Amino acid sequence: MDGKNHMGKKALALKECLDDAGVILKNEYAISLLMFKLKMINIELEQKYARAVVRNIDSRIKSYDSILKKLQRKSYDISYAAAVEKLNDIAGIRAVCFFVDDVYEIAEYLKNQGDLILLKEKDYIREPKKNGYQSLHLIMQVPFFDREKCTYIKIEVQLRTAIMDSWAELDNQLCYKKDFLNTAYVEEELKEYSALVVKMDKQMLHLRRQIKECKSKK
Ligand code: GTP
Ligand code: MG
Repeated sequence: MDGKNHMGKKALALKECLDDAGVILKNEYAISLLMFKLKMINIELEQKYARAVVRNIDSRIKSYDSILKKLQRKSYDISYAAAVEKLNDIAGIRAVCFFVDDVYEIAEYLKNQGDLILLKEKDYIREPKKNGYQSLHLIMQVPFFDREKCTYIKIEVQLRTAIMDSWAELDNQLCYKKDFLNTAYVEEELKEYSALVVKMDKQMLHLRRQIKECKSKK
């Protein structure tokens, strides 16, 4: 069997697994559970602080094409088993908050949920990526009980501020994974704008605290 044909068969088998109704449903279950938890946390924090906390929550299941590309890019086996074992973001959810302290408080809430397991934490806010990308990523495992056993579904939870989100959205449109466009000039500019994001988030947080202090003195 030639290499290309073999790869075609493997890719086809991967697609069949990913299209399986049970597999799709499990990823939907993990996303729904996290969506529910994030909404509950948001309600609690909004009541606690009497202000808006989460601006929006988005979710997606990674497409077959993206999964295949990522497996190839990282030189993993083209199989469903490798996808589930190696990729952490087949199910993904993103909560965009107004302030940076909200990001960390929500992360703490999630980490303290007894039914979720934290697999990995990537704090690109304390340590932004080289290009300036900022976000807090939690890779969590959601237990799923069926008749026979408990399996765990991985989900990537991205938490960031609205300003960080604007930067990431624009980076996504202009640069991210578009190697042919990443000139030194564009990279330098984006990095500079990322420093502005840090500054603006800090200032907004400072302003919120000042306003609160003024209110409490009245
Ligand atoms: P991906 O293959 O991009 O999923 O990366 P990874 O699994 O090696 O992990 P990483 O933590 O680098 O990225 C996880 C996710 O964060 C990505 O899928 C993007 O949604 C987001 N992300 C990471 N880096 C960047 C970046 O430089 N720019 C933007 N816009 N998003 C990023
Ligand atoms: Mg990803």
